[in-house]
Amino acid sequence: MHDDTAEVRDPTDVVDEYEETLDSVLSDVDAPEPDGDGGVSLGLPGLSLNRRDFMKAGVAAGAMGAVAGCSSLNGGGGGQATESGGGGVDHSVAPGEHDEYYGFWSGGHSGELRVIGIPSMRELTRIPVFNTDCASGYGYTDDTKQLLEDSGGYSWGDNHHPNLSETDGDYDGEYLYVNDKANGRIARVNLTYFETDAITDVPNMQAIHGCTVLSPDTKYVFGNGEFRAPLPNDGRDLDDPDSYTALFAAVDPESMETQWQVKVDGNLDINDSGKEGRWVIASAYNSEEATSIQGMTRDDRDDVKAFDIPAIEQAVENGNYEEVNGIPVVDGTKESPLNQGDRPIVKYIPTPKSPHCVEVEPNGDYAMVAGKLSPTVTIIDLNKLPEVENPADAVVGRPRVGLGPLHTTFDGNGHAYTSLFIDSQAVKWDIEAAVEAEEGSEEPIIERQDVHYNPGHIQALEAMTTDPDGEWLVSLNKLSKDRFLPVGPIMPDNDQLIHIGQGEKEMELVADHPAYPEPHDCVFAHKDKIDAKKVYDPEDYEETYITEEASGVERTGENSVHVKMTTKRSEYGLPDFTVQEGDEVRLTTTNIEGIQDIIHGVAIPEHDINYAVAPQDTREVTFTADEPGVYWIYCTFFCSALHLEMRSRMLVEPAEG
Ligand code: CUA
Repeated sequence: MHDDTAEVRDPTDVVDEYEETLDSVLSDVDAPEPDGDGGVSLGLPGLSLNRRDFMKAGVAAGAMGAVAGCSSLNGGGGGQATESGGGGVDHSVAPGEHDEYYGFWSGGHSGELRVIGIPSMRELTRIPVFNTDCASGYGYTDDTKQLLEDSGGYSWGDNHHPNLSETDGDYDGEYLYVNDKANGRIARVNLTYFETDAITDVPNMQAIHGCTVLSPDTKYVFGNGEFRAPLPNDGRDLDDPDSYTALFAAVDPESMETQWQVKVDGNLDINDSGKEGRWVIASAYNSEEATSIQGMTRDDRDDVKAFDIPAIEQAVENGNYEEVNGIPVVDGTKESPLNQGDRPIVKYIPTPKSPHCVEVEPNGDYAMVAGKLSPTVTIIDLNKLPEVENPADAVVGRPRVGLGPLHTTFDGNGHAYTSLFIDSQAVKWDIEAAVEAEEGSEEPIIERQDVHYNPGHIQALEAMTTDPDGEWLVSLNKLSKDRFLPVGPIMPDNDQLIHIGQGEKEMELVADHPAYPEPHDCVFAHKDKIDAKKVYDPEDYEETYITEEASGVERTGENSVHVKMTTKRSEYGLPDFTVQEGDEVRLTTTNIEGIQDIIHGVAIPEHDINYAVAPQDTREVTFTADEPGVYWIYCTFFCSALHLEMRSRMLVEPAEG
């Protein structure tokens, strides 16, 4: 039986300690040499779907061979920090060669995702999600504009936790789901075309922080409500924080409709799914239900919530809910009748105060809750969880890892790697040794690697599956300070690539990678699990596909025209077209090229229009031709030697009178 208040430190001490660390590093900041080297709207509330939602989904085949197992403990506790910097391990990928893994990075409040090859760390592309993007035209074309408008009409989002869809506990290459912390949304990215195809504005929730899919078969996508608010938030209970609520939401991965929500005591931070489809574990830091930092850190402990998904489904089926804004909301608070029987829907597991993330290890036996203000990781035994009467008895280990533990990842060989925000380290420890060791022991620690500086998430290859690949991990460091050429006061983050091998080899820091603000997390999939198409399927566009013969202008109303136009090297289907001043112009463009990588752009000066049309793609924009004159339309992608000559003219005739 573990003392759940052990190792709690005064937050003021922790903050002081952090600032001292920061000061000591910052004092070197002017040193000349850095150390080391180094849609279709379904008419559903809050739901927006792109038309490609209905395309044929391509399931990627491919399975990785099992990695060699090894989990012997390397000597005793403590572990010396490794001071390495780009030593023996080569992460370069030769010109013309491909990376072994796709890395999908959240882009934080830039609103986008970034796709980065591992191990080279080369940026392969960006996927706009909650932001507009003038390179691709996302947010400018009619369907993508509608997608953003129908999901709230916000111009930005704060994406944090990318999750790949799973079949049998492994990535199936179909979709990626990511949350918008700022506006309580969950988006889906189609991995056949690497495009956002649905965004759900989850009702009743302001900030969705944690986001995970239910393993092993992606039955739901879950969102954690971080900010407590009145329910519904319609002007009631404005300054009555005691009556605010935090919600846990389940979204259907296909329809992207919110299925149900569970209200809880305290709040919800980050979450992860068990491997068998029963438990979702969510961390939380505000059991005090306070509205200030002093209040939120007052008590010595918080509660991790374990959501029993089948039990919640049963409650919904039995009609044990109240409906709020069209969504069934189940009462999962401590005093709820649904938590009094022998199958409570939410178990509250005490941890030291204000923990941060929770991650379930590959076997699905343990959930690791990083202490943040406690220098420990709390290990919850998910197999014991159904049996124990007191949920605290499911806590089976609490290794002391260092200051500011935030996130944990896994190599599939029995090791956990925890990021230490305050100590600026990645610490490797043995999971079974930690379960067997005394609480607060450093004995399970195998090795420490300094990182630069202040890491948040840490991710190893395919660590969220039942069969991680080990070999590499990335530490997403929040501060870069002296690591790169100065670029003004807003500095890049520093994503560091660390080689971890397959067994007990020493961790080795291999590469620094500057990142524009502000990635939070990433997820990696072997290249064989993703089947990205290089050309669109014209069958997706039966309604709108334009042929060269069909290019032309059709008057559709007194003040509206439909302009249809193909693109190919190096001309548009119409050398010019004429509209009247004040016309609403619907412009449909099909790229009739069948060859990969021949993309054309359609830019219309002084009309705020620019979008890409990839091979066999059809895109539409609608705008008003409100000023008479000649407007040159030109191609923005360098498509051929005669790219500059690829132009058309829009002639806007002055209105009569
Ligand atoms: Cu088409 Cu440049």
